[in-house]
Amino acid sequence: VGFTVEAVGRYGTWLIADSVEVAGPLSEALMSAGLVADLLLDVDTGLGRTGVEPQGALALAAEIAGLPGLRLRGVLAHEGHLYGYGADHLGLDAEAGEASRRLVRVAEGLRAAGHTIDVVSVGSTPGLAASPCVAGVTEARPGTYVYNDGNQLRLGTCTLGDCALTVLARVVSVHAGRAIIDAGSKAMSSDAVSAENGFGLVLDVAGEPLAGVSFSRANEEHGFLTGPGTSSLAVGDLVRILPHHACATVNMWSELVAMHTDGALERWPIVARH
Ligand SMILES: Cc1ncc(COP(=O)(O)O)c(C=O)c1O
Repeated sequence: VGFTVEAVGRYGTWLIADSVEVAGPLSEALMSAGLVADLLLDVDTGLGRTGVEPQGALALAAEIAGLPGLRLRGVLAHEGHLYGYGADHLGLDAEAGEASRRLVRVAEGLRAAGHTIDVVSVGSTPGLAASPCVAGVTEARPGTYVYNDGNQLRLGTCTLGDCALTVLARVVSVHAGRAIIDAGSKAMSSDAVSAENGFGLVLDVAGEPLAGVSFSRANEEHGFLTGPGTSSLAVGDLVRILPHHACATVNMWSELVAMHTDGALERWPIVARH
């Protein structure tokens, strides 16, 4: 909390809470630091993770608004349940709109009760085409779209050409119909939409899918490429693995290599891991 209070004071960070149990100690810490901070109320619009249920928002807002040191400024939701829609684009877009409307209705209810609600914040990459387009939404917080990834590709949220992040791996062993690469579970994330999709999509160095090659198993430092296409792979070859989940994969690394459109390379440290 000490760090949070300092960061709030220095950067004007928004705080988020979905209960008095969370907001109360924040209020106390802010008060003793002589600070006032803006707070968004986390509302569950369908994910079923954090967030007060829409019907409980008014009562909670009244309690939080009475806490010193906190200024209730808006409502926020993460419509992460859209990941469950698979390739059902119509269903996904319809629910993305519905989830935003649930949040907007909460905001309107809070305003009617006298709260100043400037921020109505939605956030997800699958919902990006529909969630922010609902009247009353003021902010969208997609994150994965920065790189895109295999999960977004399967959802139809992006094309392969929109995917900017790959793990570059080298074939270190070829035997009995399998090619082993130097990227295993410490290099990848297994966080996939479907457990059947292995550890990532195998591409050639130019970024085209390698036909008949699956990344089917991973040990810590070794990835198992299997399938008929592995006969074209030799020790020393480079392949690119498109991760299922860009966020979780980036978190495995301490730096990444960014490539500019002119081919110039830059090394970026990965901060805010874990
Ligand atoms: C609270 C919250 N907002 C926004 C996002 C971004 O969503 P996405 O990864 O679909 O872009 C996340 C992702 O986990 C999240 O937890």
